[in-house]
Amino acid sequence: MRAPEPEPTDSAGYLDVDPQAASGSGRAWWDANATEYLDEHGAFLGPADFVWCPEGLREADAGLLGDVAGSRVLEIGAGAAQCSRWLAGRGVQVVATDVAEGMLRAGLAYDESTGVRTPVVAADARALPFPDATFDVAFTAYGAIPFVPDAERVHREAARVLRPGGRWVFAVTHPVRWAFPDDPSERGLTATRPYFDRRPYAELGASGAVLYAEYHRTIGDHVADVVGAGLVIDAIVEPEWPEGHDAVWGGWSPLRGALLPGTAIFVTHVPG
Ligand SMILES: C[S@@+](CC[C@H](N)C(=O)[O-])C[C@H]1O[C@@H](n2cnc3c(N)ncnc32)[C@H](O)[C@@H]1O
Repeated sequence: MRAPEPEPTDSAGYLDVDPQAASGSGRAWWDANATEYLDEHGAFLGPADFVWCPEGLREADAGLLGDVAGSRVLEIGAGAAQCSRWLAGRGVQVVATDVAEGMLRAGLAYDESTGVRTPVVAADARALPFPDATFDVAFTAYGAIPFVPDAERVHREAARVLRPGGRWVFAVTHPVRWAFPDDPSERGLTATRPYFDRRPYAELGASGAVLYAEYHRTIGDHVADVVGAGLVIDAIVEPEWPEGHDAVWGGWSPLRGALLPGTAIFVTHVPG
């Protein structure tokens, strides 16, 4: 089935949008833009690699999930399931979930090209179709959280489907970035807007419908969401831009990476 044609963007900016009206925009946007997104970033991500962020930090080096041998692992907002495929290729029992079927479908082509079958389930991260305490580890690399107005629901669902002691690791844009233009050049080095302005970056159609929304949370907001879900924070990892890494991803670049953090990865666990 072909993805629906994306509606043209009429206006964009940091806007007050009705969270209720914007709540489903993530699914529609990622469905419509799956091909374009993977054309742009697929080579960087690799079909079966576990890259946490534009800084190129790999799970193979970082080990943020801990030892997952024999664990039941859940990926949330998995996109084309590249990270899960890397785990599956190592014999880990993993399920990749995403709200956009267009992204998951793209992953099927990667299954074929790599010969690694990755179990996938279409699901909104805010309503996961799994019983309580199903998994030992859950994670997301930039999935779901930036695209929903109510991220605390994602954390609550992650906590619910993890067993006591289970680990939840999530990577998001580093909150400091919000104050700077999303530009890889010199322009992106000067703070131009308040870090404390929580209005999302939104793209609207001519009818006023929210086509795309990306939400800002300060470090304190993320901590409040995670703690509010009953989770314990073990670490906040801020990957540094590695020497010799010259890939540009949207507003992430070696120039900015040398001066500003680009990603925050929260390592948390369910008590007990
Ligand atoms: C930037 S991609 C991250 C996925 C993958 N790690 C990557 O880098 O391509 C964001 C993903 O979050 C998914 N997403 C957005 N809103 C979601 C939601 N409410 N529930 C689950 N996934 C969601 C999108 O469909 C998309 O596949």
